[in-house]
Amino acid sequence: MKIELIENKVYFNNGSEKKEIHPFWLRERVNGEEYLDKGTQQRLFDPTFLSNDVSINKVNLDEKYLEVNFNDGVNSKLEIDKIASEFSKEDIVIRSIEKNKWDSTLKNIKNFEYQENFYESKEMHDLLVSFYKYGFVIVKNIPTSKNYIVEFANSIGSVRRTNFGEYFDVKSKPDPNDLAYTSLALAPHTDNPYRNPVPCIQLLHCIESNVSGGLSTLVDGYTVTEDLKNDYPEFYKILTEVKVRFRFIDKEVILETISPLIELNEDKSFKQVRFSPRLDYVPILEKEKLDLYYKARKKISEMYNSDKYRIEFKLEPKDLIMMDNHRLLHGRTSYETKEGERFLQGCYIDFDSTEGKLRHLKRKFNL
Ligand SMILES: [Fe+2]
Repeated sequence: MKIELIENKVYFNNGSEKKEIHPFWLRERVNGEEYLDKGTQQRLFDPTFLSNDVSINKVNLDEKYLEVNFNDGVNSKLEIDKIASEFSKEDIVIRSIEKNKWDSTLKNIKNFEYQENFYESKEMHDLLVSFYKYGFVIVKNIPTSKNYIVEFANSIGSVRRTNFGEYFDVKSKPDPNDLAYTSLALAPHTDNPYRNPVPCIQLLHCIESNVSGGLSTLVDGYTVTEDLKNDYPEFYKILTEVKVRFRFIDKEVILETISPLIELNEDKSFKQVRFSPRLDYVPILEKEKLDLYYKARKKISEMYNSDKYRIEFKLEPKDLIMMDNHRLLHGRTSYETKEGERFLQGCYIDFDSTEGKLRHLKRKFNL
């Protein structure tokens, strides 16, 4: 990308096309200390109060800077590199981390080890990159006292509190309001598809495990939906289009949202899966359309539940798993309560936590 000048106009040239940069766009970015707070990088003026008739009186360009004199008397020296970075539409920190598709053959994924100063370490940076690649990460040796999971969550970002509380205890208990709180097997599902927005990341911390069953299971929803797109494009299409209602009812709250089982970004790339077939209700549609929808849902359920995609492993006490609830499905095998205790603690955080931390650590370590 190159900046070029023709008379008092500024152009960017990306090699294939040359376009004028609006003078107002440059005016909004003036960076003298009376216009921009150096610490927060927030504006000290409100650009919506400026006249729309901003133009350039004089402009000068050297290798590093574009110096502009605007018609309202304001002068500013703008860094060419900063301007250029704004023409890249990608969020280079997060979106440049390519997702690794995985299935049951996934092996040798790196586990991380909790240690002193963990949250500000290069190890934490690597952990977050691995999380974005695989959609989950396991951290060993996390203290188990005093609901430490909350401190862990708040040291990366902030706990996302829900009506289940700041954190929740996952163990079998009488009169449960969710099947999670029994010893039954849980088929692969995403959590809380009825919330708006759906919690982004689930943390589960193993406090106690003296049972032979109760293995944790994970499935990569990204791999499954990409395979569905290739092998059954009609099923894929209808699952991205039909919006279904997810609802959770408790004594004091009714949570409800309406979304497709596979949600795409504007550019049709993968955004999110939702899957919790005890809670989803499709609207009344034409019979033929529903026919296709039910076949598609059955197929994706078969895929989510098949051995081909599922990994199984045992969480040991002090292990903490952090998983992307928009990408991965999780579940567990059943266990016998008479064998002993299985006690996990869980909580949620959102992507602003992991993204914010990762951008910070990249800045800190110059990565
Ligand atoms: Fe769950």
